[in-house]
Amino acid sequence: MPKQDPQMQRKVEHLFLAEKFFTEESLADFDKVRLLHSALPELNLTDIDLKTDFLGTQIDAPIYFNAITGGSKQSKEFNSELSQLAKKLGIPVSSGSMGVFFRLPETKESFTTLRENNPTGFVIANVSAKANAKQAKQAVDLLKADALQIHLNAIQELAMPEGDQEFYWLHNIKQIVEQVDVPVIVKEVGFGMSQVDLDKLWRVGVRNVDISGFGGTDFAKIESQRNHEADLTYLDQLSLSIVESLIESKLYQDRMTILASGGIRTPMDVIKAIRLGASSVGMSGLVLHHLQKSSLEETEVFFREFIKQLRLIMASIGAKSIADIKKAPIVFDESLISYAKQRKIK
Ligand code: FNR
Repeated sequence: MPKQDPQMQRKVEHLFLAEKFFTEESLADFDKVRLLHSALPELNLTDIDLKTDFLGTQIDAPIYFNAITGGSKQSKEFNSELSQLAKKLGIPVSSGSMGVFFRLPETKESFTTLRENNPTGFVIANVSAKANAKQAKQAVDLLKADALQIHLNAIQELAMPEGDQEFYWLHNIKQIVEQVDVPVIVKEVGFGMSQVDLDKLWRVGVRNVDISGFGGTDFAKIESQRNHEADLTYLDQLSLSIVESLIESKLYQDRMTILASGGIRTPMDVIKAIRLGASSVGMSGLVLHHLQKSSLEETEVFFREFIKQLRLIMASIGAKSIADIKKAPIVFDESLISYAKQRKIK
């Protein structure tokens, strides 16, 4: 693979910098949300069912490995491990952006390893919002993908000296949704979405979104580290956290599948995100961190324990199923109440 390709080099730096800035602490606002336990859960731990529907397919737990990488030799190794893990856990896995494959088809294997390692699992292809419908279909075909993610990354592009400056995406998204025959998920990359964004997406036919909010991986910071001209980290102040984005999505939760990601660190974060309206919850930074610092086997142990703890929390709140989580009593702190009030969300 041509090492000197700038886009590929950028992908390698992303892996390195995301890990460099990873912290166990999350800024996702989950500390502003309390779930209340039930003193009388009236269930047996063994009755708890973590299985849930993910865009028409049953998955073993309400979590997925979100978009991370592809293109380089390192990406291939990483995607190979990521897909083996997803297969073992019975959860969906996404590719990183496949833009590099359209330019350099020789990078193909760094993406196809996701499917080869996981022939019957739920695999998601990923393209940018400026990919055309033909490329989107090509990405789906290459991975025999079960769904397609289109990522929205305006802040990230603006924080890069070589980044895009034109952001007319809606027409393109509409074309892709109309022409691709697997479910399309429009996702952010960690800066969240507002109700206005969801309305725009709804109007062009989008029915599945990943609000991917602020709290974990911060591309304003990552690109600023790569950008020697200016530090644009402060652009992240414009973001919405995953919790704020889920509040923003309230009006759309009965019409769209709302997936959520951004800063997930603990099983409690997952349960809270589901309580706030997410149907499943994605993780990038956390799984990247574990795969980089420990072995595939150790990462599997970590995520098996993570999934086990989802059950314990569900038992504590009296939830036998993922649907039951949505009935758990919840308390917001004053700042979130003020947020919802100012945003006119009831
Ligand atoms: C990402 N993310 C991402 N998203 C996307 O749609 N296409 C992509 O190519 C990438 N690339 C990428 C690289 C790396 C190294 C990371 C860590 C993340 C964004 C990712 O899918 C997710 O939306 C955010 O990272 C927020 O979630 P976490 O990382 O806080 O769990």
